[in-house]
Amino acid sequence: RARVTLAGLVAKKAGREPIVMVTAYDHPGAQIVEAAGVDIVLVGDSAAMTVLGYDSTVPVAVDEMLMLTKAVRRGLTTPLLVGDLPFGSYEASDELAIATALRFVKEAGCDLVKIERGGTTVERARALVQAGIPVVGHVGLTPQTATALGGYRAQGRTAEAALAVIDDAVALQEAGCSLLVVEAVPSEVTAAVVALLEIPVIGIGAGADADGQVLVFHDLLGLYDGGAARFVKRYAELRTAAVAGVEAYAAEVRGGVYPAAEHGYAMAEGEAARLQE
Ligand code: KIV
Ligand code: NA
Repeated sequence: RARVTLAGLVAKKAGREPIVMVTAYDHPGAQIVEAAGVDIVLVGDSAAMTVLGYDSTVPVAVDEMLMLTKAVRRGLTTPLLVGDLPFGSYEASDELAIATALRFVKEAGCDLVKIERGGTTVERARALVQAGIPVVGHVGLTPQTATALGGYRAQGRTAEAALAVIDDAVALQEAGCSLLVVEAVPSEVTAAVVALLEIPVIGIGAGADADGQVLVFHDLLGLYDGGAARFVKRYAELRTAAVAGVEAYAAEVRGGVYPAAEHGYAMAEGEAARLQE
């Protein structure tokens, strides 16, 4: 397979060929999504919840995200790699945003970085693009500021709220973003954004009108203990399979079934007898 490029994604949008994006957080995860042939891999700050056990994305640190992102980089060759700048690591100034983003590009090998919201983030996006760093915008439900949005709930459900999402989307494209993630909005809002924007629009809980879709690795594979959002579809039940596997191992150890002879090593010819002497 050929390496995915931004130009290739724009061509897919033009040809109405849906773009496939998924998250990954470690090396085996990266190898799995690489083998599955996805277009874009996001090391989402959803890692805070999926692999680090925090109860929101707010607390995760840049160094934690960098460690996970580097592990994913080592497992990918074909898809574009997007690093997700954590909450607090880019908002305060253009200088902060550039310094943080450069770590994801230079230390972790990201092709693009993602930042959340409109507002001041539009200026941060412009500064990053001017510094030569490709940017993914993220509007609609933005989990880093979910508390201010009234919790993890769909956005853009009134005409005014829909226009606010659409305005943010247009502003982020004008700031130079290469891609836009739209999360948890009605399909009418997605359709309007797709029609207005030349850059590819990747939806999550945003209906079928987006130029592509993104889902969280642990959600789509059923590797997550707890409830998932309405928009999640499970394509496997890996947690159930993993618990069953570890239970079977525990039962065999306790029952003296594992290890069997074939799992052990033999001494060299005649050496066991010499050991007895
Ligand atoms: O962190 C994440 O996984 C995300 C995607 C859901 C877009 O931002
Ligand atoms: Na995120």
